[in-house]
Amino acid sequence: MSRSYDHGGNIFTVARTLGVPPDQILDFSASINPLGMSSMARSALISSIDTLMHYPDTSHAELKQALAAYHGLPPTCFTIANGSTELIYNLPALLPGKKALIISPSFSEYVRALQQHQWDVEHFVLSPENNFTIDMEKLERVLAGGVDLLFFCNPGNPNGILYPQSVIAGLTRICHAAGTFLVLDEAFMDFCEEGSAKQAIVESSDAIILRSMTKFFGIPGLRLGYAISNCSLAERLDALGGPWCVNSLALAAGAAALQDVRHNNESLEYISHERDVLQAGLKRFSQFKVHPSSVNYLLVEITDGMTSRELKELLLPHGILIRNCASFTGLSDRFFRIAVRTGADNKRLLESLETVLAR
Ligand SMILES: Cc1ncc(COP(=O)(O)O)c(C=O)c1O
Repeated sequence: MSRSYDHGGNIFTVARTLGVPPDQILDFSASINPLGMSSMARSALISSIDTLMHYPDTSHAELKQALAAYHGLPPTCFTIANGSTELIYNLPALLPGKKALIISPSFSEYVRALQQHQWDVEHFVLSPENNFTIDMEKLERVLAGGVDLLFFCNPGNPNGILYPQSVIAGLTRICHAAGTFLVLDEAFMDFCEEGSAKQAIVESSDAIILRSMTKFFGIPGLRLGYAISNCSLAERLDALGGPWCVNSLALAAGAAALQDVRHNNESLEYISHERDVLQAGLKRFSQFKVHPSSVNYLLVEITDGMTSRELKELLLPHGILIRNCASFTGLSDRFFRIAVRTGADNKRLLESLETVLAR
């Protein structure tokens, strides 16, 4: 398979194309905590350097303990992985069945992972005109037609919507009735933790939650993620990863990051404030419809005929990278996604937009 992926955060390729160093690019295309990694995680990384002469701890015990405290769940319900993408790729090998459904638009790696394991993939497409609402009765009918596996992302990416617990309870119920296994991707749930379905899913025999530690904890380059499930599924999923899928630095930084309550609370407050400011700034452009968001990114629709590809090209000379959403099933090149970054960065984006759109 080629190593060409259509994702946000591709700053190394973009920098090579533009002939500039990667740090000269303001990356609004990947949705990472703008305050970055916590100082406790940084110290843990530095003080763990010498442990690299040993193999990583195969039990992941310290990180599982930290996760247990963070979530109020038993350590046995966690499976640690090299980013949640590793779990997305391992699950289709573990679960029985052949037909998968993805509630879209959503993360593109679900399709790749399923196809790698010869699953048939279909999409249940939510529409922006309808504010990405799920028609439960329609979905129930589709599941009844014989779907073995359903992928759903909450909060939604790229739409930024936090679907309420009542919707997730409804999904769980119709999946259970139809014999469909539910994969609930909560990659961005740390930005609004009260929305997590973890308490309900952890005991379930036909559902699992995937969590990423790369976004809220600001370590996409380090790679760290985990699943929450009943302990028998956790054991089977763990075995698929092999003994050393997660390196010692990621394990140490992850445990420290979860315990840095002050940094985590500061991040939540900061992002919530900057999201409001950025949203208000974007709404001043008459050609934009800004979708509401509960997380650290905003989905924006261009209503005057310009495409998101054109807008992306216009912003690149300003050193600004946005995510063109044309490749998402169910969206078009009228949509783009931007991360909420620091106040200064967001201001630069708004100023650059004024310049390029005034032409
Ligand atoms: C919805 C969603 N799920 C999962 C992932 C994978 O995250 P990671 O492998 O970095 O944990 C991403 C990354 O962008 C994502 O957007």
